[in-house]
Amino acid sequence: MISLTINGKKQELDIDPDTPLLWVLRDELHMTGTKLGCGMALCGACTVHMDGTPVRSCSIPVSAVANANIQTIEGMNSVAFQAVQKAWRDLDVVQCGYCQSGQIMSATALLQTNKKPTDEQIDAAMSGNLCRCATYHRIRNAIHQAADAIGKTASTVGGKA
Ligand code: FES
Ligand code: FES
Repeated sequence: MISLTINGKKQELDIDPDTPLLWVLRDELHMTGTKLGCGMALCGACTVHMDGTPVRSCSIPVSAVANANIQTIEGMNSVAFQAVQKAWRDLDVVQCGYCQSGQIMSATALLQTNKKPTDEQIDAAMSGNLCRCATYHRIRNAIHQAADAIGKTASTVGGKA
């Protein structure tokens, strides 16, 4: 038995400890928001957060995350995530959509630790997330828009306090 915490909920699973986390999410827990791309930690489609850090779930055995808090796109609700979602919609970032769950998870992780990333910091943080439709320019613009929105929210809240 492996005990996992996914989106804040404890799960007990009778599963081979070597099973990649992505297979557990999709096949055992039927959480299909996280996508399979390359299966080799090369494309970022399978990105989830492990204790807040973006990781490639296709290449992590489930035994390695037993004591971690795993967050998938289904459980995301942070201020940064909401700002990213809105910016993605406003700027029509998505084309075919296949890579976008992973893109959004990486973008959110970036904004949760860096409220005002530069172009270079965005490119570095997003470099492991590939997009066959080449939406990179819109992704970068959307991350800047989300950062601005988070900054405005913070200053409004700060002003009232
Ligand atoms: S599917 Fe995991 S990095 Fe490509
Ligand atoms: S939107 Fe099609 S692969 Fe990225």
